Amino acid sequence: LNYNVKRDRRFILEILFNGLRRLEYRGYDSAGISIDSSSSSDPNGQLSFSPLVFRQEGNIDSLVKSVYKDVASIKLNLEELFCVHAGIAHTRWATHGEPSPKNSHPQTSGAGNEFLVVHNGVITNYEVLKETLTRHGFNFESETDTEVIPKLAKYVFDKATEEGDQSVTFSLVVLEVMRHLEGAYALIFKSHHYPNELIACKRGSPLLLGVKELSEDMHSGAPFLDLKFISENRHPKELFLSSDASAIVEHTKKVLVIEDGEVVHLKDGGVSILKFENEKGICGNALSRPSSVQRALSFLEMEVEQINKGKYEHYMQKEIHEQPESLTTTMRGRLKRGGSTKAKTVLLGGLKDHIKSIRRSRRIVFIGCGTSYNAALAARPIIEELSGVPVTMEIASDLVDRQGPIYREDTAVFVSQSGETADTLLALDYALENGALCVGITNTVGSAIARNTHCGIHINAGCEIGVASTKAYTSQIVVMAMLALAIGDDAISSQARREAIIDGLFDLPNKVREVLKLDQEMKELAKLLIAEQSLLVFGRGYNFATALEGALKVKEVSLMHSEGMLAGEMKHGPLALVDENLPIIVIATRDACFSKQQSVIQQLHARKGRLIVVCSKGDAAAVCPGGSSSCRVIEVPQVEDCLQPVVNIIPLQLLAYHLTVLRGYNVDQPRNLAKSVTTQ
Ligand code: G6P
Repeated sequence: LNYNVKRDRRFILEILFNGLRRLEYRGYDSAGISIDSSSSSDPNGQLSFSPLVFRQEGNIDSLVKSVYKDVASIKLNLEELFCVHAGIAHTRWATHGEPSPKNSHPQTSGAGNEFLVVHNGVITNYEVLKETLTRHGFNFESETDTEVIPKLAKYVFDKATEEGDQSVTFSLVVLEVMRHLEGAYALIFKSHHYPNELIACKRGSPLLLGVKELSEDMHSGAPFLDLKFISENRHPKELFLSSDASAIVEHTKKVLVIEDGEVVHLKDGGVSILKFENEKGICGNALSRPSSVQRALSFLEMEVEQINKGKYEHYMQKEIHEQPESLTTTMRGRLKRGGSTKAKTVLLGGLKDHIKSIRRSRRIVFIGCGTSYNAALAARPIIEELSGVPVTMEIASDLVDRQGPIYREDTAVFVSQSGETADTLLALDYALENGALCVGITNTVGSAIARNTHCGIHINAGCEIGVASTKAYTSQIVVMAMLALAIGDDAISSQARREAIIDGLFDLPNKVREVLKLDQEMKELAKLLIAEQSLLVFGRGYNFATALEGALKVKEVSLMHSEGMLAGEMKHGPLALVDENLPIIVIATRDACFSKQQSVIQQLHARKGRLIVVCSKGDAAAVCPGGSSSCRVIEVPQVEDCLQPVVNIIPLQLLAYHLTVLRGYNVDQPRNLAKSVTTQ
């Protein structure tokens, strides 16, 4: 922050707290903050600042309470500032060490907080570094991998000053630290030795710089960010560093996406960027120091309203109910019907130069994790049908663990809402190394997957904040259905089918609006299931994915054990679990597998299974053995078979939501989970 007006220091705290609240969906087991303590005069009459650190287990509100408690007990004096102020804050999703104040960030170099660090990622060689630093007399307090970073910074700083280099800059210290770090990280450093300065750097994990101009004379409106302007501190401005745009967008839409190896130096309200060129650091010459770099500015398309809950109580609820709109946005400008030729076509701009190569590939491999994997599974049959190209599925971590075969002739499609999931990114590196054509399907413009793939499609579902993915799932399926149309051949024999799918896509938002009316019915069902220990969901064909995804939704937010299963496998094990107590959901909407699902229902009924059947409108009698009293039926509108998973998942999303609220759990912050898992 760079001010030429006096601001109450509470303002700085509130900016940081609000930023953390926006990022809370990425981790919420503990949090911390560091701002400078009240100014005191040194012997020369100069103001001096020293960093204060607050760390707290639990969510952001617990941190806020503890900080203001200290304010009340005068540990922190909130008098006004007339200067630059540099503060940092962090919300944690524990990797190394349980959630506790000592394991929260900022991690410190030790007494006096000479160096402080907040970190997103994992340092894989921290044990070796810890051993070395311990030999040099450092004592470690936490169980985190992060603690080695501030201690290494102090070691580097002390060494440089001992050797007489009194002018070692903050960025040179950090460049030297980076040289020793392995793993993935986005880091922000603050130091007692460099008041009013922050250093940010990254490798692997995402990081953005936001620039808010506070005066008219500042460079504005141009498509480039000229570092000359932001490097000067005479223009009052606020600078923001964040792991993602949601913490920045309420302040500014002008952002710079920091790239791997870049070291961003915020000093006295100005910015400079150095590039870390691998091997040589503080003692070498390999650093390039761009004095005035032209960098493309990104303008965030996100709106603040998108990241508010609006009239809803929870983000998950809001995101479930906004699916008619998110699906409309996903398809906007991409589907055409009518015109002079009356042809129905699909336009996917991000793929236009690669469609032929995808069509010619030997196989298409879908790669993702969690819900994104399930979305690809839902789209697999239509891609196989329309393109004739074999499709295989890979869970990202498993592909990397096995070093599974990926060839130059393959098209590897990476599906990820955030575009930053560490497992998916590692699989992307692996596929790039193996020479595959890499396609990204993400919801996040500028994300690592969007940047590092050869081509791709943005799903444009709008910001998704609920940890349980809902609207991104349905938009991903729709994007992949459009992908199937785009790469499928346009043989006369498949013309009618293609047109039916395009018509179905146009009508899908209406059908979703219709199925959302089941909200109350799903709440009633949730009341019946509230005390259950376990739930099974059976699906097949297009709706095998619905079974997996429905069960995933229920288990991740309501904490009820639930399993999605392929109905074709029922006889080969799961049937043993069936009795009159265990609730079982069977997806039996009309498609080529309908009669097989009818027999599954019969077999479950014969074993007194407690059945809940999702079927097409008007099919209650056809799916309930011996009449509708034998099972509970959820009727959904029928759509083209390949789009049916979009409709069918919605009652299950609603069920998961209501079960969670009724069971008294936090639906937006499920235990132990995080939305964007940027660590392995
Ligand atoms: C985490 C989230 C899931 C998500 C998965 C993949 O596990 O909790 O909701 O489906 O990551 O995330 P991605 O951003 O790659 O789609």
